[in-house]
Order: sequence, then C-alpha cells, then structure tokens
Amino acid sequence: MTAAAYHALRKSADRDPVSFWARQARELDWQAPFHATLQWKYPHARWFADGYLNASVNCVDRHVDSPRKHKAAIVWEGETFETRTITYAQLHDQVCRFANVLRNLGVKKGNVVGIYMGMVPEAAIAMLACARIGATHNVVFGGFSADALADRMSDSGAVVLVTQDVAYRRGKDVELKVTADKAAKRIPTLKHMVVFKRGTASVKMKAKRDLWWHDVMATASPQAKAAKLPAEHPLFILYTSGSTGKPKGILHTTGGYLTHVSYTTKLVFDMQDTDLFFCTADVGWITGHSYVVYGPLSLGATVMMYEGAPNHPQPDRFWDIISRHRVTILYTAPTAIRSFMRWGDEWPSKHDLSSLRLLGSVGEPINPEAWRWYHRVIGNKRCPVVDTWWQTETGGIMISAVPLEGEGKQSKGTLTASRQVPGAATLPLPGIQAAVVTRNGKKCKAGETGLLVIKHPWPGMLRTVYGDDARYKAAYWSEFPPENVPDGWYATGDGAKIDAEGNVWIIGRVDDVVNVSGHRLGTAEIESALVSHPRVAEAAVIARPDEIKGNALVAFVTLKMGKNATNLVKLKDDLREHVGREIGHIAKPDDVRFAEALPKTRSGKIMRRLLRELVKGGSGFGDITTLEDFSVLERLRSDDEV
Ligand code: WT7
Repeated sequence: MTAAAYHALRKSADRDPVSFWARQARELDWQAPFHATLQWKYPHARWFADGYLNASVNCVDRHVDSPRKHKAAIVWEGETFETRTITYAQLHDQVCRFANVLRNLGVKKGNVVGIYMGMVPEAAIAMLACARIGATHNVVFGGFSADALADRMSDSGAVVLVTQDVAYRRGKDVELKVTADKAAKRIPTLKHMVVFKRGTASVKMKAKRDLWWHDVMATASPQAKAAKLPAEHPLFILYTSGSTGKPKGILHTTGGYLTHVSYTTKLVFDMQDTDLFFCTADVGWITGHSYVVYGPLSLGATVMMYEGAPNHPQPDRFWDIISRHRVTILYTAPTAIRSFMRWGDEWPSKHDLSSLRLLGSVGEPINPEAWRWYHRVIGNKRCPVVDTWWQTETGGIMISAVPLEGEGKQSKGTLTASRQVPGAATLPLPGIQAAVVTRNGKKCKAGETGLLVIKHPWPGMLRTVYGDDARYKAAYWSEFPPENVPDGWYATGDGAKIDAEGNVWIIGRVDDVVNVSGHRLGTAEIESALVSHPRVAEAAVIARPDEIKGNALVAFVTLKMGKNATNLVKLKDDLREHVGREIGHIAKPDDVRFAEALPKTRSGKIMRRLLRELVKGGSGFGDITTLEDFSVLERLRSDDEV
C-alpha cells in the first residue's frame, strides 16, 4: 500500500478500533453477517459473535468460484526434491474428500482431531477438512515425543489422529507412526488413526483402528457441504509452553482469528496474486497455522511449502528453492538467519535470488547484525525486512514494519518499509494498542524497559486455555485487572522498551519461559522431565545467550547418590536423551552441570536468577539475602564443569 493509505488506515483504527476491525472482517465471506462486533467482558472477548462463517470456505471455495480456480494454492517440494503443485480446484477436491472421511469416521462438530505430521500438503488439507466440518484441530509438531503427543491428545480429548508412516528430515526417516502408536496407548478417547504414506518401508497398522489415507480418500466423495459455524466456533487448539510444567492448550476461534491473519498477511506481506510466499515455519507451530495455511490461503495466495531441513543436502537448500521456484517473499526465523551467516555467503551467492522482493523475520529478537546480513546478502539491499512480533496467543502479527509502495527514491511498484530499524519490531499494526508499562501500570518513559501489554482486545486473541479458564485468567489477565487499569490489559510476558520514535524493541521473556531457536520452552517442563529420571533428585533449567540459537539451555542437576559413583560424562548424555524422549529433541539441554546443591530461598524456591548470573560468569549476584545457604553458590562456582 502507499504511505498515504497506511497513515489513513492507522488514523481510522486509532479513531475507532472496533469499527476498524468490523471493516476488516467484512473482507471475509460470511454465511450470515454479524452485527455485534465486539463483546468484552473481562477477561473474555467475543468477536463478530452473531455472524456465521466457515474457514475452509474462505480459504478454498471462494477462490474456486473465481478466476483463481486453477491458480496454485500450494507449491510443495519434498526433501528428496520431488515437487507437487496443488491448485485451488484440487485443494477443494482434497479438502472435501477428507472432510467426508472424517464424517464417515463419526467425527462431529466440536470433536477434536489430532494432526501429527511433517511438512506435507496433507497436513494443510487435514486442517482445512476439520474446519469444514466444524471439528477442532490440534496439531502437534512432528518433533515431539510420544509422551508429549499423548499429553496433548488426551488433554484435548482427540477422537482421531492423522499422521504419516514416516516424515523425511535431513535424509532420515522420522518414524511418526511408531511414535503415534506409543502415544495412542495413553489417549483413551482415540478411535481412529488415518495414516498418510510418505515412505517406502512397511509400518504396522492396527486392524479397525488404523486406515490408510490413500484408501479412504479414493472412495470419498469430492463434494462436502461446509458446516455453518458461528464466528466463535473453536477452530483449533495449539499447545504452547508456559511457566509451569504443563503446556497450555491455546484456543482460537473462527471469525476473529481468520480476520486477523487475513488482514495481517495482506498488510505485512503485501500479498499479491503474482507472489510465491515461502514461510519456512512448520505447520506444528502457530506461524505455520497463520502464515502457511490460514492467512495466505484466505487471500487466494500461493504458498511454497518445503518438507525438509535448510541444510539438506547442502547449506544452500533454501536459496536453491527460492531460485528454482522464483519465490518472492521469504519469512523465516533469526536462528535460521544466524546459521546461514555462519555457513557463509558463498551458499546464497551461488543462486539467483533476484525474485525476492520482501523479507520477514519472526520468533525472537533479531540482532542488528543478523538483520543487516539478511538485508544485504539475501535481499541485495532491495528488499524491505519486516520484523514481526507476535505469539501463539495473539493468533497473528501484532507489531511490525509495513512495506510501502514507491516511497523515497524508489520507483513506483517497488517497496520500502514504513520503518527500517534493525533490531526493532517497530510499530504496532493499525488496530493494535500495545504499550510498555511498569509493574504498576505506569507508562514507561522512552528507552525505559518495562512490560509489554496490549490494552484493547483484538480479533485474533486466544479465547481461553482449553479446559482451564482459571489458568487463562491467571496467566494473561491477572497482572493488570480492571480494578487497576481501564477494562484490563493483556500481559504478553515479554519485556520491551519503546524509543523516542515510538519503535518497540523486544527484550525477551520476563517469566520462566525460554526461547530457543524461536521455539518457546517452559523451563519447568524440562525440569520435570529431568526429575523423572531415576538418578535425578533436583533440577533447575536456565538459559544462557547463544550466538546461533538465541538462547541455549543449561540444566543444573543434583543426583540422588554421591556424584563420584557414576560415569558423569555418560550420565550427561543419558539425561539429554531422556529429555529428548520425554518432550522432544528441541528441549534437550545444551549443557548439563552436576551440583551438590542448588541455591534456594529459605522458603525452598530455587533462585534461578543466581544460576543465570553464574553461567554468564558474573559475580554480581545482587541481593542474595534470601539465599538459604551461602556456601552453595561458592561450591557451584568452583565446580569444574564435567
Ligand atoms: C514469543 C512467542 C510468533 C510466532 C513464533 C513464536 C518471542 C516472537 C518475536 C520478534 C522478538 C519475538 C516473544 C514472544 N518473539 N516474535 N519478532 N521479536 N521476540 O511464537 O512460541 O508463541 O513465542 O516469541 O518472546 O512472546 P511463540
């Protein structure tokens, strides 16, 4: 959009955010129009609640009934280099068939369907098929362990699980079906598994319970009526780590979520019919939900979907994909960008990246050095970089630069960004009211660090924590309740500062949540996995800054027996593997340090702050008057790392 249009949009949103969002929502196809835009009763919001719509109709049918009918919806490339292009008409056929498969298996409106897959188009098809019949999907990242899968499936009461025999990752088979079988023993509500065949080896199929995707799809009808769903119908649950051991089932509903992701995809990525949009996130995370599936497809855009690792078979795979398919927009994570920097400029420079016109970043703060490299080496200084801040809970992008047309010296049609500030997420999007405040709710001065809050409900916001509304209230709405601030504010859990120009700089989490490689992990969850190992008495997990991953995990562990009695080097590996099995490989601690005792307060709370200081090599421990046993710190410091 032009700079003038952007400023007008911001003005209209500031003047009346509720009517602003109603206008954005009317860009969607409604089965029955809404009249009530927002009903806010702290801490619950209902958006467009008397309207009806279906997300799969918005992402598929409305493009089939348009000149986009035979346009590519998904361009897929397997790690093994085969490619598939799925047009909107073909997507419609597949989504309808799978909707019928689910209905034939007895799945009803409001039932939960689990999806445990790799990056194959069938994952998106399964999600859209759920949306079509009003089933709520619960996608679990394919890297999670059997236990993590079982926890998420049983917490949500899933009746069907859609999976694959294997997924391909870095040249290896990831045995999804084997893991799903293990998990199934602990999912009492599970009736069926549908298995998409990706590999060649045979897998065990349990009679009556398990069905092959290709068998059931072949006989299913390619027409399926879309359910008429109220705007607040639950679209999906996605589990994310919190500051306690148990992951939170973040619940998103239909009308508000779709409005938010559709609006932000158009605004932040300037999505055009000629674009090929490559969001490198896995569908197992919110970024994959919002910017591989729902946002782009609701606009009739074409997405590039890649199955495998960025360095398979060589460190130039992304650049190879971009040049062969002529990708125009790339959306990836700082941790990936830092790896690319380390692998060297020779990899991108081998390829023609001239098709790119816009670059995006998400998942964690992007350090200015990585930002500049991305801008210079990948974007050839031509492409604006948008650093997008948001969360699983927010549903879609909240704070980001916006690319603008024909500003400055650039010719018409080329883009510059509303702001280019390496390292800052820049401004809240029109319609979003973000602020940085002190613990008392006082606005911070320019440059002063405080808590990032959202002061007004927005359509993509989570509606609750599935099955635990008390936790929803406690985690997000208890810090700034209506007794203290007008209408109550949403606490993001992030620390931030706003500079004199109004740019938002995200500092990082203020709770016991750590961001490793753009993935959010609760330290409590990893600690409880460690403690479940027979040799471990106690564990404390903290983050230390890491050049590539943003943060690395350090686990301090005390053992049940004297530590000299075992081979500690081996035990260290065992513990890392154990966490890998309990949660998944992304949660494995980078360092395990054994200690005789952990620093605690007199009330028994582990003082993680001191451990953080310790790994930084510092001695400025601040106020340690609450520390119960002072000698612990000294011993921890003098302990040689094993
Ligand atoms: C946390 C949310 C949003 C999808 C991926 C992560 C951090 C996210 C940025 C950014 C600085 C960022 C925050 C946030 N974060 N994007 N552009 N700059 N920090 O989703 O797993 O829900 O994690 O990721 O700390 O709270 P998530």
